[in-house]
Amino acid sequence: MSSKLELLRSKRAEALKGGGEKRIESQHSKGKLTARERISLLLDEDTFEEIGQFAEHRSTNFGLDKQIVPGDGVVTGYGKVHGRPIYVFAQDFTVFGGSLAEIHAKKIVRIMDLALQNGIPLIGLNDSGGARIQEGVVSLGGYADIFFRNTIASGVIPQISAIMGPCAGGAVYSPALTDFIYMVQDSSFMFVTGPNVVKTVTHEEVTSEELGGASTHSQKSGVSHFSVANDLQCINDIKKLLSYLPQNCEEQSPKYPYKGGDAARPVLNTIIPESANQPYNIKDVIAQIVDENSFYEVHEQYAQNIVVGFAFLEGKSIGIVANQPAYLAGVLDIQSSNKAARFVRFCDSFNIPLLVLEDVPGFLPGTDQEWHGIINNGAKLLYAFCEATVPRITVITRKAYGGAYDVMNSKHIGADMNYAWPSAEIAVMGAKGAAEIIFKKEIDEAADSAKKLLEKEAEYAELFANPYNAAAHGFIDEVIEPADTRKKLIRAFDMLKNKVSHIPKKKHGNIPL
Ligand code: HXC
Repeated sequence: MSSKLELLRSKRAEALKGGGEKRIESQHSKGKLTARERISLLLDEDTFEEIGQFAEHRSTNFGLDKQIVPGDGVVTGYGKVHGRPIYVFAQDFTVFGGSLAEIHAKKIVRIMDLALQNGIPLIGLNDSGGARIQEGVVSLGGYADIFFRNTIASGVIPQISAIMGPCAGGAVYSPALTDFIYMVQDSSFMFVTGPNVVKTVTHEEVTSEELGGASTHSQKSGVSHFSVANDLQCINDIKKLLSYLPQNCEEQSPKYPYKGGDAARPVLNTIIPESANQPYNIKDVIAQIVDENSFYEVHEQYAQNIVVGFAFLEGKSIGIVANQPAYLAGVLDIQSSNKAARFVRFCDSFNIPLLVLEDVPGFLPGTDQEWHGIINNGAKLLYAFCEATVPRITVITRKAYGGAYDVMNSKHIGADMNYAWPSAEIAVMGAKGAAEIIFKKEIDEAADSAKKLLEKEAEYAELFANPYNAAAHGFIDEVIEPADTRKKLIRAFDMLKNKVSHIPKKKHGNIPL
């Protein structure tokens, strides 16, 4: 037996070496950690159970039979984060550049199946040169096996992808099918075709970083939800994100002990500027409403006219969607509608109640928006709210104009509780625009048109630039003092915690994609 134990131990030691000292050094010299280092940072101490450590490829092409590395370039298994189980795979760039081939893919598929069957979140740490070129078509099959499972697991278990190195070609589609993508600045990139192909086809000269680096995808394309400084921050932030999430769609998020209370926040009574055209930062409002420092923003640098993210309210996770008056006046456009719609659907999939803070002047006008489909993109957000069955509360802080009023979680589309601050203006449009249309003749014919416009604007504002008209119709449940918002929300979400609501049985809806 002792010789057999020796053999096991030596095999294990061999597997732990990955691609060897030289390649590990090279990985470190790029500021990157190895697959095993990343996993050990991610998981609670001594909780990692590896699966498939001795799996080997069986290809003989191009001398591959002489290059056998146990594990085949990916470390897979399960462990715990903050005491709760997760499944994880980490591609090992020191072995064949982390490239994906038959066995490598099978290992990932195996843990995906286990994660799905057992209702456990899946974390993928990607660092790969893509399809293993020597193995050819089996790599493509392996990718497709993964894509299929990503899709089937969508909405059942949370799936989080970290891009911690290259991620090119079709490989990008696995992360794209997952719920959240982290990208590490300066050491990761994602693109369907790289700079050389781009140059050949479109004659554009572009670097990998410009084409698909972390800042590109977190600011321009929105493909990445989080851009992080380095591997360590990436892993720490994934752990933080997990703390807001349930294990699967059948469970609720954890409730953490919280002793902060629901005292009034008087500063909110003075946060709205005197002039309706003056901006304020909605994140200052969020900070006053949620538990101290608990807001974790998603897509922070993308479509900043809408703010989305997770927070705790008395220790319980909620999802927040808030118009941002400090950026493009908080207008809804294509990008912000997409961003918010996806977030709303994530929260609804995983039983995370939704809070909407509304200050929206409407949809962004213009040919650019119309020609690129603001109609069906705006409809995505509308659809996402309409079908969401989690507890949903809206607080209108200031403007709620036009179609955007309906879209932003209005009572008509299923919100459970709708509050308005006294500063709310709930109307078809702003007073000036409305006066110009309905009193056009009178204004044109007046001796002093400018004075007449102001007069008529004031008349319209008196009637509609307030929350009371909507409250009279029952569209607003209560007009509240801003300082009381936190208390009202804690009580209302608590009252709604056992909400049962179903949409009719169907195969699936047809969201305007
Ligand atoms: C096999 C690969 C590999 C790959 C890298 N390596 N990519 N081996 N298949 N796809 C190996 C290298 O030969 C090298 O081996 C080691 O990994 C490290 O690679 P380097 O080039 O030295 O590293 P670096 O300079 O950091 O460059 C990384 C890289 C580059 C940018 C990823 O290696 C690269 O461009 N690789 C090819 C990428 C590619 O075209 N992949 C196919 C994409 S198509 P040694 O032994 O020297 O250490 C695709 C289709 C998927 O993926 C479709 C799914 C539907």
